[in-house]
Amino acid sequence: MPRRKKIISETPKKSDRFQAQLVRGMKDILPQDQGLWQALRDKARELGEAWGFGRIDLPILESTSLFERTVGATTDIVEKEMFSFIDKGGDSLTLRPEATASAARAYVEHGMLNLSQPVKLYYIGPMFRHERPQAGRFRQLHQIGYEIFGEAKPLVDAEIIILSWIFLQELGIDTQIQINSLACPDDREEYKRQLLDFLKPSKRFLCDDCQRRLVKNPFRVIDCKNENCQKIIANMPQMVDTLCGECKDHFSKILEYLEEVDVPFNLNPRIVRGLDYYTRTVFEVWPLEEETETSSVKTADVLGGGGRYDGLVELLGGQPTPGLGVALGMDRIVAKLRDKDITPVLRVKKPQVFLAQLGEGARKRALKLFADLRKTELRVQANFSKESLRNQLEIANRLEVKITLILGQKEVVDGTIIVRDMESGEQEVINQEKLISELEKRLA
Ligand code: HAM
Repeated sequence: MPRRKKIISETPKKSDRFQAQLVRGMKDILPQDQGLWQALRDKARELGEAWGFGRIDLPILESTSLFERTVGATTDIVEKEMFSFIDKGGDSLTLRPEATASAARAYVEHGMLNLSQPVKLYYIGPMFRHERPQAGRFRQLHQIGYEIFGEAKPLVDAEIIILSWIFLQELGIDTQIQINSLACPDDREEYKRQLLDFLKPSKRFLCDDCQRRLVKNPFRVIDCKNENCQKIIANMPQMVDTLCGECKDHFSKILEYLEEVDVPFNLNPRIVRGLDYYTRTVFEVWPLEEETETSSVKTADVLGGGGRYDGLVELLGGQPTPGLGVALGMDRIVAKLRDKDITPVLRVKKPQVFLAQLGEGARKRALKLFADLRKTELRVQANFSKESLRNQLEIANRLEVKITLILGQKEVVDGTIIVRDMESGEQEVINQEKLISELEKRLA
């Protein structure tokens, strides 16, 4: 048994020690879990590139007003869930609860209107919402989002929905799209009037939240989870019945495209989404399980959501520009993959060569060799903190590399290196100067 090295450190005083803990609703993503997360990031990039999206990284901190004005002051996100604070300069800042508003801000601020339209952007990253933590609901959540600016045709609504469906399908998760139209602002005013006429007589039977919503934002009554409220709205007037000719046409074309591609969908009048910027199309991506009823799913199971926001860019000071997008919840997708025991096939290329070293002098030489090999197209890995050859060969096996290079003290003195074919186990000693050409030949 190799003896453990003693780690010399300054011992903190007992009174200085404390038990540091995760903040509620946050989580660590440990090395052993990274595979699934990386698979999602790779899929996001691969599909994004395949559909012509460019990556955008948006800041995590934004002005509080960005979300108040776009997501909406009376929405749950803004009313209850934002992590906002006043910074040292006296500005009100917020940890972004979502990134659509930021993408629209960036579109306006960087004059993307002058680029060839539509502009297609995708992002990957954390969002923050002060929700009640439970399975599938975190305060730091992670999203993959796709946004398209500058295209009004229903074809792109279908495109973004199909992209979301394919994303999950390729990972091995069956889903069904829940779709609805929130209409244009004029239709919505008419519908709001009808909805209020319908709800007001039952006001006292609604939950406290919905009684307030009735005044501030009656659409939010529609997706209230309270049983009494659900019973009342079961007979509500339907938004699709108030759509004007253009909105109706837009909606039915999207459905035609979805049918064409065989995307499973369900017309669901209860999908109103919790953000104010939506116009016309709204949708959610629900897992399709045998036990899932088509009309309801736990909120914490919804894998993604999105829709059209044709007024958002103008609201942020830009020219009138249609837009739409989707965000997929990475935490929930990872959980689903884990539940179903799915290991997505990574399309990233695996390492080809592992460089192992034995002894202090060999390690130094191996570091230089490693740096030289990394300058080539060869995909090389090493682990310089491992000393035993057995440990290093175990890693090489796990990585499933074709070749392991072994550099010992003798090879350093001779200027040679051992090339081991991992499949046959055959070893050959070659001159270090010929190493790169030899590897290229063997891996060609
Ligand atoms: P959202 O529906 O609020 O939409 O979030 C999208 C997805 O993020 C949800 O379907 C869910 O999978 C995940 N998610 C949301 N909250 C949590 C949470 N607390 N814990 C874990 N996962 C969560 C938006 O954010 C819009 N920006 C989507 C969009 C893009 N609309 C147009 N473009």
